[in-house]
Amino acid sequence: MPLIALVSAKGSPGVSTAALAFTLTWPAPTLMAECDPAGGDLLAGYLAKYELPPDRGVLPLATSAIRGHAEQDLPGQLIDLDAPRQQRMVLPGINDPGQAASLAPGWDRLGEFFSILPTTVIADCGRLCVPHAPIALLARASLVLMVVNPKSIRTLSPAVPAIARLRREVPHTEGPDSNLGLLLVGDGIAPREITRNLQVPVVARLSWDPATAAALNGEGKGRTRGPLMRSALAAHKSVQTALSARRTAQTAIALRDTDSLPVVTR
Ligand SMILES: Nc1ncnc2c1ncn2[C@@H]1O[C@H](COP(=O)(O)OP(=O)(O)O)[C@@H](O)[C@H]1O
Ligand SMILES: [Mg+2]
Repeated sequence: MPLIALVSAKGSPGVSTAALAFTLTWPAPTLMAECDPAGGDLLAGYLAKYELPPDRGVLPLATSAIRGHAEQDLPGQLIDLDAPRQQRMVLPGINDPGQAASLAPGWDRLGEFFSILPTTVIADCGRLCVPHAPIALLARASLVLMVVNPKSIRTLSPAVPAIARLRREVPHTEGPDSNLGLLLVGDGIAPREITRNLQVPVVARLSWDPATAAALNGEGKGRTRGPLMRSALAAHKSVQTALSARRTAQTAIALRDTDSLPVVTR
């Protein structure tokens, strides 16, 4: 099943909120992996009622992935959001940004592991502008969604250098088989205009819904059924369309490359 990575350029456009909304609304099974090197948010927010031993989550799993036994170790690292069904799971992130350096050598193997799991993995990768950003994990993703607030040129402009960096450092982030797309949070500049300027397709848009967002962040008493959740579910279809368009482009490129191979005659 696909690995969908969510990142932002800088600021807080709503990456973690989007990742949780997807995990809760998309057809199960889903797994939200908190891969933000600045630290995970869920255990202090939406999952505040859970007390997890500090040695659980993405950091020990990264070590397991490097040693080649992530599969056996995964179940013990997860929280079941939908207990006891185990259909919507969370892999908690680090709780101290100081641990990011220990996590970094595991990004590639973690990404590889996530991309072969029989569940949709939604990775909250946080901001790109922090030390030890999970670039190697992004390279393994079926789709990298850069989360942006489309309100104004000011909120959009940090995406320009971030996209340039991704295109320098992550393979397949441009061209017909690109894995890079935009996820808009809220309203503002028209998607077509944004795509024209950033040269990245808008894959989906989430509603601006402070009450539901607060509930997903463990604040307030808002119900988790508002417009944000409806738009998160609708985004699933758009993501599937983007994934299948990418697969078609990959197949076309593979066929073209096969056709251009020299014919060997004996
Ligand atoms: N769709 C949304 N509508 C309204 N407020 C939102 C939305 N998404 C996020 N927020 C709010 O924005 C703030 C940052 O959200 P968060 O998801 O933690 O951002 P990030 O992970 O990008 O730092 C939080 O206060 C959250 O409630
Ligand atoms: Mg976050």
